[in-house]
Amino acid sequence: MNYQVIIPAAGSGKRMGAGYNKLLMNLAGRPIILHTLDVFEKDPNCSRIILVIHSNDESFFTEIGSRYTKIHLVFGGSERQYSVYNGLTAAKEEGIILVHDGARPFIRPETIARLVAAAEENGAAIAAVPVKDTIKKVKNFEVVETVDRSSLWQVQTPQAFHFSLLKNAHERAQKEKYLGTDEASLVEKTRHSVKVVEADYDNIKLTTPEDLYFAEAILKKRQQ
Ligand code: CTP
Ligand code: MG
Repeated sequence: MNYQVIIPAAGSGKRMGAGYNKLLMNLAGRPIILHTLDVFEKDPNCSRIILVIHSNDESFFTEIGSRYTKIHLVFGGSERQYSVYNGLTAAKEEGIILVHDGARPFIRPETIARLVAAAEENGAAIAAVPVKDTIKKVKNFEVVETVDRSSLWQVQTPQAFHFSLLKNAHERAQKEKYLGTDEASLVEKTRHSVKVVEADYDNIKLTTPEDLYFAEAILKKRQQ
């Protein structure tokens, strides 16, 4: 089943602390974003990559874009949600659309295929893993309560949708000025069900500097 993917890459990488977009930092000698793009460029089921960028990085991405056959460049917004919304304007208005963070380079093609199939069937599906740690609610550095983790999942990307469902959810959020931290939360507001596809713990998002060490280790393990 064919799909399109929106890859938000228009952030500034504040928590990484490099002073520039973290996706341009090197991982094993290549910019992080290229690791992510390669997965989709190589997937024969991916028909279009909508890469959402910041104008600060335009020259870098214009050069990158010319090396990939599927990339369409779009400018992002001040929040990730607005970046994805802008990405929707460059999509074909049909079929299955994925949203996948540029900062998650370790997504496996098998997980993508499972998400696409689940979205085909249910309209919406997200990658996630069960929470491993004990989770506590804390206020002013004091424990309020220990949360039952048996029903808690840590959510990742990709998140996959029927195009019209995602577009409607985004338009509604825009109208209601609702800002969510992922696409599924916007779809949940429409009361459409969202299925969970169990993904991998190594589908990490590179967020803070120590994530780069984990990333090197994941790459090394995969090359064995
Ligand atoms: N992103 C985006 N537009 C924004 C903010 C984020 O396209 N206005 C993208 C990032 O480039 C990243 C993904 O959304 O690929 C997930 O966001 P995050 O990991 O938070 O990246 P940054 O926002 O760049 O990092 P930080 O929050 O630490 O500044
Ligand atoms: Mg951010």
